[in-house]
Formats: sequence, C-alpha cells, structure tokens
Amino acid sequence: MTTETYTLITGASSGFGKSLALECASRKMNLILVSLPSERLKELASIIREKYGVNVTAIEKDLSTEDGCYSLYTEVTQQNLHVSTLINNAGVGSTFYFYEGDTGFFEKQVKLNVLATTLLTRLFLPLLQQHRHAYILNVSSLSCFFYLPRKSVYGSTKAYIYYLSRTLRKELKPFGISVSVICPGGMNTNAVVTQVNQSGTWFARNSAMEPDTVAAVAIKGMLRKKEVIIPGRLNKLFKLLDYVVPSPIKNIAQQYQMKKLKRSDVV
Ligand SMILES: NC(=O)c1ccc[n+]([C@@H]2O[C@H](COP(=O)([O-])OP(=O)(O)OC[C@H]3O[C@@H](n4cnc5c(N)ncnc54)[C@H](OP(=O)(O)O)[C@@H]3O)[C@@H](O)[C@H]2O)c1
Repeated sequence: MTTETYTLITGASSGFGKSLALECASRKMNLILVSLPSERLKELASIIREKYGVNVTAIEKDLSTEDGCYSLYTEVTQQNLHVSTLINNAGVGSTFYFYEGDTGFFEKQVKLNVLATTLLTRLFLPLLQQHRHAYILNVSSLSCFFYLPRKSVYGSTKAYIYYLSRTLRKELKPFGISVSVICPGGMNTNAVVTQVNQSGTWFARNSAMEPDTVAAVAIKGMLRKKEVIIPGRLNKLFKLLDYVVPSPIKNIAQQYQMKKLKRSDVV
C-alpha cells in the first residue's frame, strides 16, 4: 500500500494561497489548508474535495502566534498526515511609512512573515525528510530586491524569507528536499490590494498579475526544483533593470513609484 502524501499550504482560505490550493488540487495533490478560523476555509475545502476528488484537511490556526505554529504541527502529526510539500504563503503586507505604523502591527507582521515561516519549516523538516522527494516553497516578494520607502518592514521580512530559502536550499539538498522561493510583483488577490496596484505608476498597474496565473507558474517552478521563481515578463525586466540603472536614477524612480501607491496595511 502506498502512503498518501500531503501538501500543506498556509494562508490558504483566500488570495494567493487559495490559488495555490486550486492549482495543487488540479494536479491531484492532497492538501492541508491552514488559515485563521473562518467559514471560507471549510467551504474551500469541500469545493476542492468535490471538484478534484483529492483529500483535503482544513486546520484553523493563528500562525502569528508561536502556539499556533506548534499546535498546527501537533495536529498534523496526531492525524498522521504525511507532509511531503510545505508552502509557506501566509503573510501580511503594508504600504506606509515606518513612522506611521504602530508597534503591534509590526510585531504581528514579523511574527507571521518571519517567525511562522522559520518555525514551521523547522518543525516539519523531519516529516519532509521521510520522503525521497520533498518540496518547500516560500512566498517572498519582488520588493525583497529593492529598498522601497513605505515597504521597510514588509520588504525586510521578505528579504529574510529570500535569504532563508536560498541558504536552506543548499543545506537540504542532500536530504532530497528542494527549496524554492517565489518573488511575485503585485497580484490582484483581493479588493484592497487591487486598488493599491491600480493606484500606482504605469509599471505597477501593468505588472500586476492574477493570482491564478502566478500560482500555476509557482507550482510548475517548485516541481521543476527551480531555485528562484519570478513570475511575469515585466517583473523579470524590472529585476534586470536594477542591475543596469545607476542608483541615483533608481532612487528617484522608486520614490515616485512608492509615493503614488495608496496607503494600505494589507499589501
Ligand atoms: N498580493 C500581492 O500583491 C503580493 C505580492 C507579493 C507577495 N505577496 C505575498 O503573498 C502571500 C499571500 O498574499 P495575499 O495577497 O494572498 O494575502 P491575503 O489576500 O491577505 O490572504 C492572506 C491569507 O493568509 C491568511 N492569514 C492571514 N493572517 C493569518 C494568520 N495570522 N494565521 C494564519 N493565516 C493567516 C488569511 O486567512 P483569513 O482569510 O482567515 O484571514 C488568508 O488566507 C503573502 O505572503 C504576501 O506577502 C503578495
């Protein structure tokens, strides 16, 4: 009898996480979907079960707390679910100046984006090591490559995820675990984010992608064991320009771009 394996996706009830869940299910992958307690998560789980005929377990946890991360691991092991793929997607964004943000918000942002990604990766490592082939996909952001005003803490958390992923990739290769990191530009994941993307420059408006399109690129890249996944031609071009454009010009362009964006504590 073959053991059924599972893909665990954090922040799966909506946005990019939901798109990742649908993409994985369409590839017949069994799922463990995690998000804050909400009806949305249970509904999505039953829609996926019905449409794709895969096993889906929905687990409600607040991953911005250490207890939430540890009890997710406990629940998965108690249910004897064999996790062979871990997707760290849950994250909270922001577009405002550092002096405008309160300490409580920054604490939650760092805990969800940085601490949860670190704890879950470490906790689930022994489960991933039990498989001949296992995958970790971490969700960073294109903003991790640039020093963008109004993205100070968010961009730093995503730079941490980028660094962690690329170093872990080297460490975990001997164990048969492939680590990939995806760095999406703007995605129209919900109404607020879509408004922020549309409030930006020509580049921000035209580079914003649909989460379903990005999810397809993400899962394909992960299964092909790609190290860094940058979806979209304009995003790739933007990253390339960063190498060739002189810093003073880049700084002016970035200041202009970031000033135009609507204020938001979602992205
Ligand atoms: N949108 C973009 O433009 C963009 C660009 C680059 C990178 N990203 C990254 O992509 C990822 C997903 O972003 P998104 O735009 O899809 O976000 P989103 O629409 O806000 O969805 C976030 C998901 O995370 C869950 N979540 C939020 N707080 C949580 C917590 N404390 N514990 C557990 N789950 C929690 C939410 O669950 P509930 O539904 O229960 O609240 C939801 O399922 C993030 O890491 C983000 O930084 C986004």
